[in-house]
Amino acid sequence: MAVDNRDIKILVIDDERQVLDHICDLLEMQGFDVYEASSGEQGMELFERERPTIILTDINIPGISGIEILKRVKKASPTTQVIVFSGMGTTDDIIRALRLGASDYIMKPFNLGLLIHNVNRCIERHELIMERIGRQKTLEKIVRERTAALSASFYETVKALGLLTEKRDPYTAGHQDRVALLAMAIGRKLGLMEKELEIIQVAALLHDIGKVAVPVELLAKPSNLTDLEAQLIKSHPQAGFDIIKDIPFVESLGKDVSIIVLQHHERLDGSGYPNGIKDGDLELETKILSVSDVVEAMSSHRPYRAAIDISTTKAEIADGSKILYAPECVDACLQVIEENDNDIIRLFDLSAKVGRNNS
Ligand SMILES: [Fe+2]
Repeated sequence: MAVDNRDIKILVIDDERQVLDHICDLLEMQGFDVYEASSGEQGMELFERERPTIILTDINIPGISGIEILKRVKKASPTTQVIVFSGMGTTDDIIRALRLGASDYIMKPFNLGLLIHNVNRCIERHELIMERIGRQKTLEKIVRERTAALSASFYETVKALGLLTEKRDPYTAGHQDRVALLAMAIGRKLGLMEKELEIIQVAALLHDIGKVAVPVELLAKPSNLTDLEAQLIKSHPQAGFDIIKDIPFVESLGKDVSIIVLQHHERLDGSGYPNGIKDGDLELETKILSVSDVVEAMSSHRPYRAAIDISTTKAEIADGSKILYAPECVDACLQVIEENDNDIIRLFDLSAKVGRNNS
């Protein structure tokens, strides 16, 4: 794209009035927007105020030196092009200036043609840099938007998978959402990182997915289950594991969500199912999920019983602390409940957030 010289601000700093006028006149004749300064301080003031595209500065000027100006300008505005010049410069000066980011070094007396050539080269370089920055910003914006879209579709897919179970059993509608909310609240109390909370959230949203393998009439059966029926219900953690372990996008969170799902009915003392594993082999996420699952399930109405009051629920997990449930998870859960005034409706009144907000 053609650049209009009137849009290019150039600051010239030199204490030799004749040289300053000469350079400024020449640049103004080329149509540039020119600013002049006869000292380092004045030069820096103009730089701060005008943010020129190019600065031409003598190295040996009163006050702030040309080299110091170069350093400060490059620190404040890396895209600003700085050309330094001197009548007494040594090779070391040239090397030093170039190392500090000078675009060019010109020896006095000036070859005016060379000066204009160097200025034009700086303009081209500045344009290229700005184009690159623009492209980079555009790319970053695209990546941010795609990542957000991917994250949204990830959670929509996870929720859709979770709904598979709940559609078959209307009594557990919203159960996994609510368990996820409580589990994340407990996780936050325990100081877990966002990534760990995300794993808990996904595991909670899917923890009962294995119930798709359980006959629907058993899920909604209002009377007691036979041993065989109970065994079928108890097969759901293994079925859930089998379903999830082969879904790459669920298993790519950094920890096996399928393992947490498999373990969600295991208990500290080994009395849980399906494998009767004990404390040392249980993931922290599993321990959090177990407590959340029990609290939500007890607080909800089921075909075979009414919802259980919050005091009884709290007593149940407190009694099971250190035996069935991890004490730190129980304590954190009790804190979360109490912070919500022991009001189970209030505790779970945030279901709209699940699946859309990881915070
Ligand atoms: Fe379950």
